[in-house]
Formats: sequence, C-alpha cells, structure tokens
Amino acid sequence: MSSEAQVQQAPVTPSFAMLRTLGSIATLSGLLVVLVYHFTLPIIAENQRIAIEKAIFQVVPGAVSRKDFIAVGDRLLPADSEGAQGERIYAAYAADGRLRGVALQAAAQGYQDVIKVLYGYGPECQCIIGMKVLKMAETPGLGDKIASDPGFLRNFEALDAQVDAGGAGLAHPIVTVKHGAKTEPWQIDAISGATVSSKAIGRMLNASAQHLIPLIQRDLALLQHSN
Ligand SMILES: Cc1cc2nc3c(=O)[nH]c(=O)nc-3n(C[C@H](O)[C@H](O)[C@H](O)COP(=O)(O)O)c2cc1C
Repeated sequence: MSSEAQVQQAPVTPSFAMLRTLGSIATLSGLLVVLVYHFTLPIIAENQRIAIEKAIFQVVPGAVSRKDFIAVGDRLLPADSEGAQGERIYAAYAADGRLRGVALQAAAQGYQDVIKVLYGYGPECQCIIGMKVLKMAETPGLGDKIASDPGFLRNFEALDAQVDAGGAGLAHPIVTVKHGAKTEPWQIDAISGATVSSKAIGRMLNASAQHLIPLIQRDLALLQHSN
C-alpha cells in the first residue's frame, strides 16, 4: 500500500453551515437584547419616577404631587418648554393643589467623594424644610451620619434662607459651624467628629440656594398652583 493512501483525511466542517449557525445565534442574541431593553425601559423609568417623587415628598413634607421646572440662566421655565435645558427643580403641591415647597438638588466634595443631596425650600417661611442625602461615599460611622443623625437632620427643619433686599442672593449665607456653636438660624450645627462632611453640606446648600432661591421667590406666581 502506498504511503499516500495511508494518510487519513480529517473531516472538514462546511464553512457555509458554520457561518449560518453563528449568524443565526448572533441575530437571535441581538434581538433578545433589543427586546429586553425595550421591555425594561418603561419599568426603569417608572421606578426612577417613583424614587424621585419619594425623595421630593420627603424633603417637602405634606406634598403629594409635583411639577418640574428648569432654571435657564436667571429664568424658570416649565420643564416641557421647547429647548429648556438647565438645572431641574421640582415644585411640590399639597392635596388641594397649593404649593408646599420646592425640591432642589445640590452637590459638593465631601471627605471621600462628591456628596449629592435633595433639599426642600419653603417659600412661606423662606427657609429650608428638609434634606435627604441621595449619594455619598463618606466613612461609615463618621461622615455617613449626615444622612441619619437626628440632631444633624433637625438643622434642616427650618434653616433660614431669606432672600436679601436686592433679591440677588441670600440675606445670610448658609454656613456650617462646629458642633455646639450654632447661634443663628442660617447656621448648620455640625456633627462632632464629622465636621468635614457637615461642612460639605453647608457649602453645597449655600451655593445652590444663593443662585436658585432668588429665582424661585421672584417667579413664585409661576410655581404657585399645580394646574
Ligand atoms: C479614616 C478616617 C476617616 C474619616 N472620615 C471622615 C468622614 O467621612 N467625614 C468627616 O467629616 N470626617 C472624617 N474623618 C475625620 C476628619 O479627618 C476630621 O477629623 C473631622 O471631620 C473633624 O471633625 P471635628 O472637628 O468635629 O473633630 C475621618 C478621619 C479618619 C482618620
């Protein structure tokens, strides 16, 4: 027998069949990804809406509905206005449709990372009426107390945020003071041992309130009723 005849040929997979199988699997996978994306998108959006509303109603006690506005330059526009792009603010209303307050976002560098909060402004008292930490990475047992320390959170039940006579900023800058040193209604009493995180809250509230609260007070008529 010749040596050529002894060489056994390995079976060859037809490349067309292989490509067809791979193509079918890729198409099916792509289709599944698109279907899952479209199926979950409204669920994710609804969950986000519920989470935002929960936080808004927490920082504006007594509110049961909301309407969104955008701060564009020095004006407030309904969020559905064409081309409105800027900082979103949330007007929050009681069951009778009257404005209870406005929820605003603020952020600043904390001890570990950027801290983000939502706070409520009450136009009647011209004061901050609630504060909720949305995101932080502060040290457990130290800085993270800004989200839960009852004494610290009491600072935000009626924190003075009156607009100055010229209507361009706050009459008194919001500022965090050392624990036990608060003497004025616009001061935040820091958490002992966590003054750095407490000061970040004061800085972010002051920066946000100095800009947004004068606009809210000026355009109050626009926000006044839910309908
Ligand atoms: C490991 C470590 C983590 C800390 N984390 C925080 C923090 O998350 N927030 C904070 O305000 N201070 C934190 N501190 C303490 C600050 O360095 C600082 O001492 C404190 O904020 C000052 O507060 P006091 O003036 O009330 O003592 C941390 C300290 C250490 C050593």
